[in-house]
Amino acid sequence: MTVSIGGIALDRAMAALRSVEPRARAFYLYDLDHVLERAERFQRAVAALSARVAYALKANALPSLLEPLAKIGLSADAASLGELELARAAGFDADHRILNGNGKTPEEIEWAVRHGVWALNADHMAELDALEKIAAPSGGSVRVALRVNPGIETPGHRYVATGDDEAKFGIAPSEALAAWEAATSRWPHLRVDGLHLHVGSQLLEPEPLERAVEVALELSEEASRRGARLGLINLGGGFGIDYEGQREFPLERFGAIVSNRLRDSGLDLAFEPGRWLVATAGVLVAEVLWIKERDGRRFVVLAAGMNDFLRPALYGARHRIVAVHPRSGPVSAAAVVGPVCESADVFDPSALLPPLEPGDLLAILDVGAYGASMASHYNGRPRLPELVARAGRLVLARSGQPVTSTLTTAVPLSLEGSS
Ligand code: LLP
Repeated sequence: MTVSIGGIALDRAMAALRSVEPRARAFYLYDLDHVLERAERFQRAVAALSARVAYALKANALPSLLEPLAKIGLSADAASLGELELARAAGFDADHRILNGNGKTPEEIEWAVRHGVWALNADHMAELDALEKIAAPSGGSVRVALRVNPGIETPGHRYVATGDDEAKFGIAPSEALAAWEAATSRWPHLRVDGLHLHVGSQLLEPEPLERAVEVALELSEEASRRGARLGLINLGGGFGIDYEGQREFPLERFGAIVSNRLRDSGLDLAFEPGRWLVATAGVLVAEVLWIKERDGRRFVVLAAGMNDFLRPALYGARHRIVAVHPRSGPVSAAAVVGPVCESADVFDPSALLPPLEPGDLLAILDVGAYGASMASHYNGRPRLPELVARAGRLVLARSGQPVTSTLTTAVPLSLEGSS
C-alpha cells in the first residue's frame, strides 16, 4: 500500500511535481484540510473564553496555509517584520495581528504603529519608551502586553524552554507590576494593560500551562490591588504533539480548565499555538539516493538533508520515517541520513525499514511545523518545493528555491563620514 496524505498518494505527488520541476527529488507536502480541522478544534476548545487564537507563523508561514487560516478567523502571531508582512499579505487585519520578539528593531516597532497590531508583546522595559516615542506623534494608542518570565520549568529539550530562570525571555514579575502601575502617566500613548506568558514549546502535559494560568491570575490580582487593572492575558503557545504518534496533548481538558479559571475574568484572552496546528499535517518526501552497507550497518542516503529539516540535528528530535511504497521483505534497521557534510546530518540512526533500492521514496512524518520554516541553503543546496493538498487536489505552493536565487552583486560601500 502506498502512503497518502490528504487523499494523495505520495508517489503520485512526486510524479506530478516532476512534471513541472523535472529534477525534484524531495518536497514538503501539507494537508490543508487537516490544518483547518485542527484550527477549528482549537477554536472550539477555548470558545467559552472568546479568546484570540493567534497562529505562531514561525512554525510555518507558507502563504497557502496562512490565507485560509485568516479566513476562518484565526489571528497571527508574528516574530519579526517579515512575519508581520506575511500576515498582512495573507489577510490578517490589524485587529488580528500580534507582534512578539525579544529583540525588536525600530523598524518593527514603527511598522506595528503605522499598520497596526491588536497587541505588541514587550520583552524589555525600554521597548515601551521606544514605542511611546514612535506612537506619540500619531496620537494613537498601542496595546502592550508585558512578557513576564514566570520561572516555570518545562520538560523536554532546553532549547525550547522559554519560561524558566535561564531563559533570555521576559521581564521579572515585580518589574511588570511597577510598569502596569505607572503606565498611564509614563506612556500616555500606550495601553499597557496586558500580560504575556509563553513557558515553552512541545509540551505534552498541560501542567506547566496550568501553572502559567495561576501565575497570570495572581499577577492580575496583585496589579488590581495596586490600582492597575489588567485587560489582556496572552498565554502563548507550547501545545505539543507526540512524534511517536501514540498520544495527544489533552487540548479539550486544558480548554475546560482554563475556561473555568478565566471565563468570568472580564479579560481579553489570547493563545499562540504553532506546532499543534500544523506539525501533523506535513510530510517530507525524499528519494533514496544511495544505500551503503558498512560493517553490517545499512546507511540510507536521502535527497534531503539537515538544511531541509533541522530538528533531528538541532534537538536530537526523532520523527517517524516510512517507505512510501514498501517492498516486501524483512524490516531491518537503517541509519537514514542526508547528503550534507556534517555528521549530525542524520534523520534517524536506526529506523526500522523494509528493503530499499535507490529511487525509492521515504516519508518523514509530522514535519509541518518548524520544518521548511527552519530550512537553509547550507552546502549550496536548494530549498525544497512545498505542496499543499486540499479536498483531493494538489498545488505547488512554493517552487524549489535554487541557491542561485541568492546570487548577489557586491556593492562598494563608502567609509567616508564613518568614524
Ligand atoms: N509564542 C511565542 C512567543 C513563541 O516563542 C512560540 C515558539 C510560540 C508562541 C509557538 O509555540 P508552539 O505552540 O509552536 O510550541 N524550533 C523548535 C520550536 C521553537 C519554538 C519557538 N517559539 C522546534 O522545532 O521544536
